[in-house]
Amino acid sequence: MQVRSGFISDLWWKNAVIYGVDVKCFQDSDDDGIGDFPGLTERLEYLASLGVTCLWLLPIMPSPWRDNGYDVTDYYNVHPRLGTLGDVVDCLRTARELGLRVITDLVVNHTSDQHPWFQQARSSRDNPFRDWYVWRDRPDKEPEGVSFPGEEDSNWCFDEGTGQWYLHRFYHFQPDLNIENPKVRREINKMMGFWLQLGFSGFRIDAAPFLIETAGIPGKTPDHDPQAPLRDMRGFLSRRRGDAILLGEANVAPDRLTDYFGERGDELHLLLNFVLNQGLYLSLAREDPGPLRDHLEELPKVPRIGQFVNFVRNADELTLDKLSKPEQEEVFRRFAPEASMRLYGHGIRRRLPPMVDGDRRRIELAYSLLFSLPDTPLLLYGEEIGLGDDLSTPGRGSVRVAMQWTDRPGGGFSDADPGEFLPPLVSEGPFGSRQVNVAAQRRDPRSLLNRVARMIHLRREAPEIGFGRWRLLDTDQPGVLAHRCDWEGGTFVALHNFTGNAVQVKLDLGDDDVEGVGAGRVEELFADQAEEHLETVPPEPPGARPPFALQPFGYQWLRLHRDDGSDGFRAGGPTASSG
Ligand code: NOJ
Repeated sequence: MQVRSGFISDLWWKNAVIYGVDVKCFQDSDDDGIGDFPGLTERLEYLASLGVTCLWLLPIMPSPWRDNGYDVTDYYNVHPRLGTLGDVVDCLRTARELGLRVITDLVVNHTSDQHPWFQQARSSRDNPFRDWYVWRDRPDKEPEGVSFPGEEDSNWCFDEGTGQWYLHRFYHFQPDLNIENPKVRREINKMMGFWLQLGFSGFRIDAAPFLIETAGIPGKTPDHDPQAPLRDMRGFLSRRRGDAILLGEANVAPDRLTDYFGERGDELHLLLNFVLNQGLYLSLAREDPGPLRDHLEELPKVPRIGQFVNFVRNADELTLDKLSKPEQEEVFRRFAPEASMRLYGHGIRRRLPPMVDGDRRRIELAYSLLFSLPDTPLLLYGEEIGLGDDLSTPGRGSVRVAMQWTDRPGGGFSDADPGEFLPPLVSEGPFGSRQVNVAAQRRDPRSLLNRVARMIHLRREAPEIGFGRWRLLDTDQPGVLAHRCDWEGGTFVALHNFTGNAVQVKLDLGDDDVEGVGAGRVEELFADQAEEHLETVPPEPPGARPPFALQPFGYQWLRLHRDDGSDGFRAGGPTASSG
């Protein structure tokens, strides 16, 4: 038992439930229409009781907010509209008292063009900060593709003053830092040290692929080890704080994913799972678990210390760029039929509940998958109540709406005039704050909020999911995805019906090779039929395992008990989580 609890707390990120918060959209404490740190601190009790264990704060540093804070002007301060460093420390301390860890975005692929380093760098070719950025005489070789097609058409921008071009993998106002410059690397370590000292438990590494990419980019030389920047960051982080983590954002092909963990598990701890996310939407659109199954099987094995992070929605466009064009079209037809719902030719600007017309069954199906599939789950603020979106807000801003706490005019987000809010408030329609809010859902035991909270609590009680070995199970129903996770003598099984038909599923639990489970007992942990017991059909022949009944878009979570009645855990290390 001691071995088990030791692993769970030492490798806490493998059993974590992460909650992404855009502080400016969450809770306003001083009625200026912008969420802030004191507001977030007031809501920490809510987050702790929801059951999440780690908050990821989207960029909090000073910025002109031309890209939601991903354009930083000072790495050692907090945006004045969000509060002071004192407010940040108050928030971190309260979070720690409640058992919540907090990480935040570290955006070091680029700065804002307003950052004093870039202002210096562009002041003359011989300025000491010149080689903190990537310059060249002509942009004769374009790194592949641009990140925001339609908004930018090149990765190079001409600087009139000094007559050279600078590299920007994102917007032209976000010049790329020269990661090959040792001074830049030292500065990155220093900023990590600063935020760790304040009490953060790690960082989301924005745009991780560009930190290790070298192809065609002067200043990023392939002759030295391209992985070195991530490995250096990890080395520094772990020396300063052994339990701190790096969570990477890398939307890359499955065969490139292992690059980010490092061969010896000495780079990133966690990686956002864009591969699975895209498979999920294709499966939901087709009402067929096939694509999700394929994408799960495509995921590479990762070092024991590492793990993927699954999500239903992130705070950007929902990108489908790894699907084929016909597959993208299928998802668009089903979930984003109008051009105004799409972005960059391969993305969707909606949150899930409006995409499925508020169908609770489909919404719960998605979150049941999120919390029961292998790896670490991440929830974006408001998903637990079915927050909608605002398509009248341009671009990716449509999903970053104000959190809805109550049915008051400002949705409980702020007492300012809603016309003055920085994030849009969804006040009208089926997803408006009068219909969808925390207070109302708290009172209703069958609300989405209460269902999601139960999923989270049960997920945390099932370390098999985060630590164990998983595999897909055979069923006689092509519309059903079944998988099991085994770790240290415990076995967790989940079934998900992707179709709109009720089904009886015969399941091959594949238990012959798991000691003692064959003759064991199946316990229902959770199911779509809230508060009801598992419906089974009498076994035929008597003594055989009965089929499981699944409602349309239904799900069931099960635990297999060994026939000696124990849920005991054998000693031994965790097995690789994937594959
Ligand atoms: C990824 C972030 O999620 C996105 O919002 C941002 O625009 C780019 N990185 C550039 O920092």
